[in-house]
Amino acid sequence: MCGIVGYIGTKDAVSILIDGLRKLEYRGYDSAGVAAITGSNLELRRSVGKIINLEEVIRNNPIQGNIGIAHTRWATHGRPCEENAHPHCDCHNQLVIVHNGIIENYAQLKEDLISKGHQFRSQTDTEVIAHLIEEYLKEDLEEAVRKALTKIEGAYALGVISLKQSDRIIAARLASPLIVGMGDGEFFIASDVPAILSYTRQVIFLEDKEMAVLTREGVEITTLKGTSIQKTPTYIEWDPIMAEKGGYRHFMLKEIHEQPRSIEDTIRGRIVENEVCLDELNLSKEDIANIDKIFIVACGTAYYSGVVGRFMLEGLTRIPTETDIASEFRYRNPILTDKTLLIAISQSGETADTLAGIKEGKEKGAKVISICNVIGSSLTRESNEGIVYTRAGIEIGVASTKAFTSQLTALYLLAVYLGRQKGVIDEHKTKELLDQLRLIPREVENILTDEEKIKEISHQFQHYHNFLYLGRGINFPIALEGALKLKEISYIHAEGYPAGEMKHGPIALIDEDMPVVAIATQCMATQGTVYDKILSNIEEAKARDGIIIAVASSGDTQITKKADYCFYIPKTTEFLTPILSVIPLQLLAYHIANYRGCDVDQPRNLAKSVTVE
Ligand code: AGP
Repeated sequence: MCGIVGYIGTKDAVSILIDGLRKLEYRGYDSAGVAAITGSNLELRRSVGKIINLEEVIRNNPIQGNIGIAHTRWATHGRPCEENAHPHCDCHNQLVIVHNGIIENYAQLKEDLISKGHQFRSQTDTEVIAHLIEEYLKEDLEEAVRKALTKIEGAYALGVISLKQSDRIIAARLASPLIVGMGDGEFFIASDVPAILSYTRQVIFLEDKEMAVLTREGVEITTLKGTSIQKTPTYIEWDPIMAEKGGYRHFMLKEIHEQPRSIEDTIRGRIVENEVCLDELNLSKEDIANIDKIFIVACGTAYYSGVVGRFMLEGLTRIPTETDIASEFRYRNPILTDKTLLIAISQSGETADTLAGIKEGKEKGAKVISICNVIGSSLTRESNEGIVYTRAGIEIGVASTKAFTSQLTALYLLAVYLGRQKGVIDEHKTKELLDQLRLIPREVENILTDEEKIKEISHQFQHYHNFLYLGRGINFPIALEGALKLKEISYIHAEGYPAGEMKHGPIALIDEDMPVVAIATQCMATQGTVYDKILSNIEEAKARDGIIIAVASSGDTQITKKADYCFYIPKTTEFLTPILSVIPLQLLAYHIANYRGCDVDQPRNLAKSVTVE
């Protein structure tokens, strides 16, 4: 989605703004622009494509200033072109605006403004805001923005500067993320933390319908109605290096290798004397005792973590649990009561469909919690009954990896916690479950040492056009996730399927041109009733010239006779197996995509956070 950066201080604004845009590139964009004020000049430079093009424009036609705003655009209204790139101006180039979100009533507003003589230059919804502010701008820029925003329906995170009052940036947000960075005599706005982390760790997360006025003297935050609000900045622990690639070729590979730590961090402080402590939850023992149904809603990879979570929750709490893709859930009028627990899962906490799902749950009286990776994100502020934060740190790669395994870890902790609170599992079982969890970070580390073998095999599979991923039981959602990883970064068509469904259609696809990735793990303690079944599926595929890539458990001697290639993972319990079985599939997808020369961190057509429907 779009990226916003703003700066006011005493330094050269343009270099800080461009640096900030670079740190937001992962959000996906198709054009970029920057505006700065120096003296009585308000200058604007924009370009289509990558930020390097914008830098070229600025090199050929420099702009100076100690106050400015900048933007990377992901087109929602109007095709990617320079005229549609932000910042957008009013009629007389007296003010400029950058915006992330969608103005739903922009067509009517534009018609009204044109009838009043405003001249539009773009097809965007955003430009309407610039002319609306112009319509109200007499002396006070803040007031003009406030009035303009009362006319707007939809979502916005925006920054405005004007020659009328060139000593301030006005910022506001509704349903689209925006933060304020508190520096020393310099202040920032941004869509996300990485943009300003090199300059300050003190960050204020604006809430919906809040405005901020940034001057060199400080920041004032008010409601849209003008009521002053005191907010305490959040100290961001993230080290700026975390947002760099740390020596890896891509953020995605760095994040795959960060998983032992991100899983450990997600566990950290949440196991006390062999009991799970989830301080951010606001569910009383009575609330938990009353829960008679759980819904999990999410999108994409987060949804697949929810499908795994369903096994954990039903297995450890015995509460009926359903999972729903958020974009379906929000429109199907689901049956929820005050005894329903709705769990929303989202890495970014800004996914529009997931936010709408949680809204649906609240409207129907459900208890709502979220599993989220971004402190202060919109989803966390909608979660009345609390949050279980995944502590994966910044996830820059568009393809989610460490956030996914952190979500599985958080779901496991939540399932143990709820099962214990409901009295379904006793102290002994709880200790056993947590002892197994504590081993997982090291087990992930062990799998990652196998990377070279996976890389070699990936080299042989880089030219195939179709893949089939098979799994059974708790590994079926891992087959879905493995297929998503491959298709979203290598652009190879890949489909995840329940292995038991092969005879109902997919087996017709099998031939030497359709590699089959089969997750055929054995679980500790329970020999896994589905293991023998998936061995049969593998034989069926082999008999039709299928090439088999298997993910199997260490020490399994049967699988080597059936699969062409094997990745081994340590044995663990059923509920923890997915955290391990997904790792080889992440690496397989990464290396195939890398061999194909794909833009692994910013795959075509994709954005890290889908903040619009
Ligand atoms: C996963 O690799 C994709 N980037 C995508 O499916 C993502 O998981 C989905 O858009 C949900 O994002 P969220 O977790 O931020 O809500």
